[in-house]
Amino acid sequence: MSSDLSEIEKHDDSHPELNAHTDALLPDPGLHEHHWRPTDVDPKAEKRAERQVALYFGLSAISSVLFVVAYFLVEPGYDGDVWAGYGASNLTLGLTLGFALLFLGIGVIQWARKLVVDVEHTEERHPAASSPATREAAVAELKAALNESGLARRPFLRNAMLGSAALLGLPAIVMLKDLGQTNAQITKEQPYPGAGLEHTVWDAGVRVVRDVVGTPIRPGDLEVGDLVNAEPATIFDGSLHGAPLQIAKSKAATILLRMDPNDIENDVTRNWSVNGIVAYSKICTHVGCPISLNERTTHHLLCPCHQSTFDLADHGKVIFGPAGRHLPQLPLGVDSDGFLVALSDYPEPVGVSYWERNTYDIDEIFDEWSKDHAADAEQYGYKEGGQ
Ligand code: FES
Repeated sequence: MSSDLSEIEKHDDSHPELNAHTDALLPDPGLHEHHWRPTDVDPKAEKRAERQVALYFGLSAISSVLFVVAYFLVEPGYDGDVWAGYGASNLTLGLTLGFALLFLGIGVIQWARKLVVDVEHTEERHPAASSPATREAAVAELKAALNESGLARRPFLRNAMLGSAALLGLPAIVMLKDLGQTNAQITKEQPYPGAGLEHTVWDAGVRVVRDVVGTPIRPGDLEVGDLVNAEPATIFDGSLHGAPLQIAKSKAATILLRMDPNDIENDVTRNWSVNGIVAYSKICTHVGCPISLNERTTHHLLCPCHQSTFDLADHGKVIFGPAGRHLPQLPLGVDSDGFLVALSDYPEPVGVSYWERNTYDIDEIFDEWSKDHAADAEQYGYKEGGQ
């Protein structure tokens, strides 16, 4: 499309002497000589470029289809397929989706570089409000651009691009399937999504051991005011390995604190304590930071992330900060060898709150726990009022 340069070459004629001076200093460089591309002058080159672009769109479409195939055929999860040490599901889904986007992008760029009409435009400056004539001209130019882009003249390429772009939506649609339960989960052969958040490897009789070294703890090992990072002995007995071990360890992380038994303010907290020793989840109920900043004299535990503060003398209730619920407490007892053990798993899910949770009331939680565990817990010295 050619342009009329006369408008932009017009000067403000109110200072002719100044115009003459600036023209002398900065002569109009004009436009560079235009070089036509091979596809502009050679129909064979144009056809070749068209086939290349179509090939890229075709590869994009194939990649999208392969994504869907991989989604259904490659086994995800901890026990899923592994290729070259990587999770095969993530690898194939990432690569196929990546290639679908890459080839679509290359196709569009190649179309623009090789096939869209190569002309030089000159942008004229107008007053802010365009005249009707200018607006009509703009519409005419848009129509011309539409024509020059080839969208109308090249229906095959246009449809190939639209087709590959439409197939890109397929991965997003098939992944909606993950929002529901699998057949195995519906038939209870596998836990429903999120069920793993409700349990840890703590169980009745599992010894409370020191984190890192794994040594068991007797109540007499702790002075009043001592705080210990603890884990279940299960983490150290060799029964778990790899990712399952790391997941179990992170969910079961626990802190032990010994306080004067007279400082305990809540009956449930007292019931689940041994000689003033209480155990709580180490995972903040706000967004899951590990907590261990202990205010020794107040029994307050402070989360370093957003300053949520929990009262360990009063069922871990929130006394400050954004956490929405108390810190789960682990019921403690003592085994026949005199070592601290858990009386059960945590009576409520540890970690951040999520949609399945329907009660934060500690007395309701204790009543439920008593029905299921109190009788068995007596072998570890459990009695109401604490040990
Ligand atoms: S994670 Fe603990 S206060 Fe936010």
